[in-house]
Parts: sequence; structure tokens; C-alpha cells
Amino acid sequence: MNILFAASELYPLAKTGGLADVLGALPSALQARGHSVSCALPLYRHVMECNPDLFDPGLTLEIPMGDRILTGRIYQTTTPSGVTVFLVRRDEFFDRSGLYGSDLGDYQDTAERFIFFSKAVVALAGSISPDIDIIHAHDWQTGLVPAFARAAGASFKSVFTIHNLGYQGSFWGIDFKLCNLPERYFAPDSGLEHYGHLNCLKAGITHADQVTTVSPTYANEIQTPAYGRGLDATLRANAAKLTGILNGIDGALWSPATDPNIKENYTAETLAEGKAACRRNLLKRAGWPKDTADLLVGIVSRLDPQKGIDLLRDSWPELLKMPVRFFVLASGTPDLESWLKSAMDENPEKISVDIGFSEKLAHRFQAGCDAILMPSRYEPCGLSQLYAQRYGTLPIVHGTGGLADTVTDWNAEARQGTGFVFRPCNRTAMLGAIRRAIELYQDRAAWDSVARMAMAQDFSWDVSAQRTEEVYARA
Ligand code: ADP
Ligand code: GLC
Repeated sequence: MNILFAASELYPLAKTGGLADVLGALPSALQARGHSVSCALPLYRHVMECNPDLFDPGLTLEIPMGDRILTGRIYQTTTPSGVTVFLVRRDEFFDRSGLYGSDLGDYQDTAERFIFFSKAVVALAGSISPDIDIIHAHDWQTGLVPAFARAAGASFKSVFTIHNLGYQGSFWGIDFKLCNLPERYFAPDSGLEHYGHLNCLKAGITHADQVTTVSPTYANEIQTPAYGRGLDATLRANAAKLTGILNGIDGALWSPATDPNIKENYTAETLAEGKAACRRNLLKRAGWPKDTADLLVGIVSRLDPQKGIDLLRDSWPELLKMPVRFFVLASGTPDLESWLKSAMDENPEKISVDIGFSEKLAHRFQAGCDAILMPSRYEPCGLSQLYAQRYGTLPIVHGTGGLADTVTDWNAEARQGTGFVFRPCNRTAMLGAIRRAIELYQDRAAWDSVARMAMAQDFSWDVSAQRTEEVYARA
């Protein structure tokens, strides 16, 4: 099949979270299965700065936006894994310091930026030769792609993947004018309209030929009012075309045996020595010269209510008394950032905090910590717990969405499990799971054997690519 992916992030060009990792890996996994795959991404300033020698194929698209006609110029590059990426250039929208906004919040013209991008993707799809069969759009930023394709009478089919129902791209109804679609597209039950607003995610769910999300459990959860974020009825109505497919791991980037970012490479056989070296390196960096027998727990996360890091704050008095130390690499909501900094100021031997985004450090945390904590209130898939298991680092997770599908709770009697799963999502349950981890950690040989079981899990992209291919066939 000839497939065009469309998204607002793609590793290594533009990343704020797991969406980028998926776009960096799934297209090449499909390509390896014999398909012809390319991707479309906005040409952000950062991409331009890091890739001064972009190829210019001389293609300009004319995009109607309300009563204006805007041009978008296409540039091209290739990912390290050999996938062609089409970059849509319009400096008015994308030549900015952030992908979505600044410290002051989301950019004011968010609707315009991504309506423009989605239209450009559909126009681009029409100019690719040979004809594309499938356009695969991801998250709300490209949620309008299936509707634009349908309205244009496109010959290709569309697949839409929900990575996070928490972000819907919901804008004033007046922005519908920018779509240049017939009024009937904004009627109730038309897909684009939601309580008077333009809802890009709902548009994707309604108009795509097939819809996927990133884990089987999340596919079920989002059909309930508790997780549906107001779209559960829409999802139930479209359940026949909804499939949950787990994300995988890009083994070329995330493998302790070859990872260039970590102090010492290791395999399941050399786990103890390898992790000890990575741990020393992390302790040194934190300015903790003396190691202790404390469990080292890492957090690598966006700070957003989704991620439940406020539970750490609420449990802090208890955690201070437990044999556990924390390494946190995170950025996001200002109140949590400032709490984390003050926790480190008050107890510098207990918690080491890096506010910001560092790919290299994320790898070092995965290798050097004993466990990774993810108390997410909801988690469509989650990648950090997959990386953790690959690195023999045991995840401590709330049993929801993809976390429930990929971490097996340690059962001491059956001697089975790859991490610690707690429910419900509250501090008591989380502290219980951390206590159980600490208990197992007292017997280091037993801990290491669980870590080896975690490392043996197969989270390769190939299985997910095969499932995705089945969805394309259904479309
Ligand atoms: P989400 O996409 O909801 O943020 P995932 O677990 O799917 O959650 O993916 C998170 C990705 O972003 C992982 O690759 C993780 O390593 C990375 N990440 C999150 N926060 C940071 C950070 N502060 N610095 C570096 N990488 C981060
Ligand atoms: C979203 C979700 C996360 C998922 C990622 C990639 O950001 O929050 O759970 O792993 O997308 O699909």
C-alpha cells in the first residue's frame, strides 16, 4: 500500500511526547513490511534550524482558508530510518519557538494553524504519485483530514488514531468558516460540531473510515462516561470501526545493549553490573556521592493532570520516611514544577529534579533507576513503562489504559510479573505499590530476576505494524 502519515510531531524532528516516538517508528516498521510510506509534518522553526539542507521539490499548494487563499510550500527530508517526510512551510504559522505555544499558553491562532496544515496534507496527498491508498492521521491536529478528504471526493481511504482524548482541538464554532466546508458538515451529528464548538477530534472519529487508539484497554475505557471526555457516545456510535493497537518500542533507539546515551551498555546477562554503572553515573550527576540501599525511582514525564504527579506531592510526607529516592525529569504545569524544585531544596538527598526536556537524560534515567513511577489518571498507551521494562527497570503504574495492558503486577507467590500495578488512582494505593517494590528490592537477586522477566517482554513494533496493516485492509 501507498500510505501517507500526517501528524504534528515526529521524532527526531519535533517532539513533546509519545506521539513523536510513534511517528518516528511506525512508518518505518510498515515500510519494512513492504509498504511505501511517507509522512507530513509542519515545517517548524526548530526543524528548519536543525536541517538547513532541506530538499525543495518545487511544490506550492494553494489553500483556501475562509475568504483568504494561503500558499504552503512543500520541503522534503528523510528520517534516519529512511522514511520521506514532507514538510509544510508557512512561516506565518510555524516559524515560532514552540510547537503549540509558549510559557503564556497555546498560540492564539491554534485552530487556523492546524486547519491549514490538515488542508495542506489533503492537497499534498492528491499530488503524490503513485496515488496513495491510505492517509493515516494522528490526534486532533490532523482530525479534520478525513472530513476534508471526504468533502474533496478523494479516492484514498482515511484512518485516524486517537493518542489522547484529553486534547480535542475544540474551538469556537465561528472557526468552522476556516474549513470552507458546506454548512451541513456543522449540523448536529455531522461530526465536526460538538455543543456549538468545532471539535477536531470528533471530526476524525466520525469521518475516518477506520479509527484506532493506542491500547485495547483504552479503546474500551473511552467508550465509558468516566474516560470518554464527552465523546464516549460518539465513540460508542463508531465502535464498529474502532480498534485498540498497542504502541511498540523503537529498538534502534531504546535498547540498553546499544544505547549510546548511557554510561555502560548491558544485556539481561550483564544486568547487575551494567545497571550498577549507570546508577553510579546518575548518583554522581545528582551530587549524591554516597550510595544507599534505597530504591531509586525515576519519573520522566510531562507535568499535566493526566500524569498524576500531584500524587507524589500528596504522598511526600510518607515518602520522606521510606527507603526510596527520586530522580525527576519533567516539565509542564508551573505549580508542580515549583513544588518539585522546593522539594529538592528542602531534601536535596531525597529527590533530584531536572525541569526541562532532555532526550539523553531520559535514556540515562531509564538505565540508572531501579523503578519508574507512572501514577497516570489515564494513559492511552504510555511509552516510558515499555522503555523501562526494556532496560530492566520495573514500572510502578496505575492500572489503566496501556499501562494495564503492558505491565503485569508482581505476584510473589506465583513468582510472576514485570512491575507493580495499583488501583484505584490514589495516594494510598500508590504508596502500597511503592512499599511492595521496596519489599522486593530487599532481596536484590529476586529483584534482578523480575527485571530480567521485564527485559524479555516483546514490545517490538512489528506486531503493531501488522495489526495496523489489518486496519488499513478493513478501510
Ligand atoms: P505522553 O505522550 O503522554 O507524554 P508517553 O509515555 O507515551 O507519554 O511518551 C512520553 C515520551 O516523552 C517518552 O519518549 C519520554 O521519554 C518522553 N519524555 C517525557 N517527558 C520528557 C522530558 N522531560 N524529557 C525528555 N523526554 C521526555
Ligand atoms: C499520547 C498518550 C500516551 C501515548 C502517546 C503515543 O501522548 O498520552 O499514553 O503513549 O500518545 O501514542
